[in-house]
Amino acid sequence: MIVLKVAVFVSGRGSNLRAILDSQKLQDLISVTAVISNKIDCPAFEIAREYSINTYYLGKAEGAVQYSVLAKLLESLDIGLIVLAGFLKMIPADVIDVFRNRIINIHPALLPAFGGKGMYGMNVHRAVFNSTAKVSGATVHFVNEVYDDGEIIVQRKVDISDLTSPEQIAERVLKVEHELLPDVIEQFALNKISSDNARIEILN
Ligand code: GAR
Repeated sequence: MIVLKVAVFVSGRGSNLRAILDSQKLQDLISVTAVISNKIDCPAFEIAREYSINTYYLGKAEGAVQYSVLAKLLESLDIGLIVLAGFLKMIPADVIDVFRNRIINIHPALLPAFGGKGMYGMNVHRAVFNSTAKVSGATVHFVNEVYDDGEIIVQRKVDISDLTSPEQIAERVLKVEHELLPDVIEQFALNKISSDNARIEILN
């Protein structure tokens, strides 16, 4: 069995990163070989260190990994899949080119609604709450050059009709995220995600 090398990009708390690292079904399938962040002091880096995973701080400061060398770094690490788990910056176009259909993002709503620039974290849940929508959910999609625009791989919906705050929506959706993201990574590692005429299918 060939182990898929995964780089996880994060900007904050890292609960999705932890869900990936703790997933039993991923233990023999993948190895998270890099955790990369634009925030040097993000809690997700602490999680990476807890699991003895190399961390890379991405930015313009001296000593940081510059965006211009990111593609080279990922190639040198032999990364087969990039997972954006709460990463709030744009991935550079050259990285998207080199890793096309090998970069996935988790979004805490049902795209194409409640997506796009500025739609991240609690902003999304507040917009969903204010819209009076009765369902929300989580989406995992391939990443292209436009925010939240790439082909959708899977979505799972969440009934929010009984909830009375954006925070409650966030909590319920996050639980689903923690199941959905490892599920998709598993399917990817097993080569079961296929793109046919711009429709993504999960093969049995
Ligand atoms: C998650 O809810 C993720 O879906 C969201 O940020 C949170 C990160 O939490 N991502 C976006 O909003 C991207 N547009 P985590 O750091 O605990 O995994």
